[in-house]
Amino acid sequence: MAIITELTAREILDSRGYPTVLATCILDDGSTASASVPSGRSTGAAEALELRDGDPKRYSGQGCQKAAANVSGVIADHVCRKPFDTQAAFDQAMIELDGTHNKSNLGGNAILAASVAFARACATQRQVPLYQHFSDMLGKPLQTMPRLTINLFSGGKHAGKQVAIQDVLLVPASATSIDESLVMTHDVYHAAADLMYKRYGMRLLTADEGGLAPPFESIDAMIDTAVEAIKNAGQTPGHDMALALDVASSHFYENNHYQLDGKAIDSHAMIDKLSQWAERWPIVSIEDGLYEDDWDHWPHLCERLQSKLLVLGDDLLCTNPQRIQRAITETSCSALLLKVNQIGTLTEAAQAYRLAKDAGWQVTISVRSGETEDDWAADLAVGWAGDQFKNGSITQSERLAKYNRMLWIESQTNLPMVPWPLG
Ligand code: PGA
Ligand code: ZN
Repeated sequence: MAIITELTAREILDSRGYPTVLATCILDDGSTASASVPSGRSTGAAEALELRDGDPKRYSGQGCQKAAANVSGVIADHVCRKPFDTQAAFDQAMIELDGTHNKSNLGGNAILAASVAFARACATQRQVPLYQHFSDMLGKPLQTMPRLTINLFSGGKHAGKQVAIQDVLLVPASATSIDESLVMTHDVYHAAADLMYKRYGMRLLTADEGGLAPPFESIDAMIDTAVEAIKNAGQTPGHDMALALDVASSHFYENNHYQLDGKAIDSHAMIDKLSQWAERWPIVSIEDGLYEDDWDHWPHLCERLQSKLLVLGDDLLCTNPQRIQRAITETSCSALLLKVNQIGTLTEAAQAYRLAKDAGWQVTISVRSGETEDDWAADLAVGWAGDQFKNGSITQSERLAKYNRMLWIESQTNLPMVPWPLG
């Protein structure tokens, strides 16, 4: 049982220089922990609301002083000096206090910062590592390390839309550990950087998640170059190193059409295009292949591709149990991209995780494009036995904080790496 004596929060800056929330929780035995929350740029419409101050004189209206004040004020008043037996009881108290479907009253950023700070303080009280605490929260033993999906090239909203699709990711398919995954990725990343230098005269200039973002002339050029970089690194595309795409197609869907490489195509043509990509390149996962409310066509996409690759829903699902339930009923996809701040509490994210797993789906645990140096997402990905972990590129300290934490967890646990589910 945990009793909070003090809960406070303040505004800090994220990896893009925008404000976010850091909360600190102190329990009655003195256990103290802080946690900060990330922020997306290519966000889904159904996400929990990030409360922003709206004062144009501070951080272009993006300040988080109100959200931080909600934690230190109304949330603290509601939860301090009461016993909470579980994370679910603590989160439920905040959900009820907020009283809205999307946390627009107190702010998803305020609520999640408190939710994770509380979890970490409880792990400290129990004297267990955070990954162990997350595993106990779900009632599942620690099983495996997740397979990494690592950003190589960026486009879309993360890189000024020079190419429509958002990420080409590397999947170290033959790696048997996090350590080996990172070694293999290093070689491909630098082979790609050499190619970028030769072709575009570019140094290692990177996008929001640390991916390389040269002015590719087309999507084909972007994916071809990824394959070339894998070969140049001495690896076999598909066998050693596979590819994943985050198409993020909600962000180029206009006038009922997908606006790709200068052409407007309908949903059927988009599905054909994704199938052709899957034939042509060693792609093992496609995220947000269709627009977030293209519910009519997601089942066709899933039927066409789910035997070959993961049909992964991000904006489609928004880690929202209701949307996930609908997608299960309609067979819209075969995998959940789980981002805790899309829903706003650990408890609801756990519910999303369980729904997806019970339906036989894979779960990719993901961070956001705007991150902080906090590393709790690495603990979550191991503790909840995520099948994949999507954390951006192998540059930038907000990404490395999580990869380095994962290396440490691997060294402590010696957990085996989860196999790829298909073929
Ligand atoms: P976001 O992008 O964090 O900017 O929303 C990540 C993604 O779309 O997966
Ligand atoms: Zn996405």
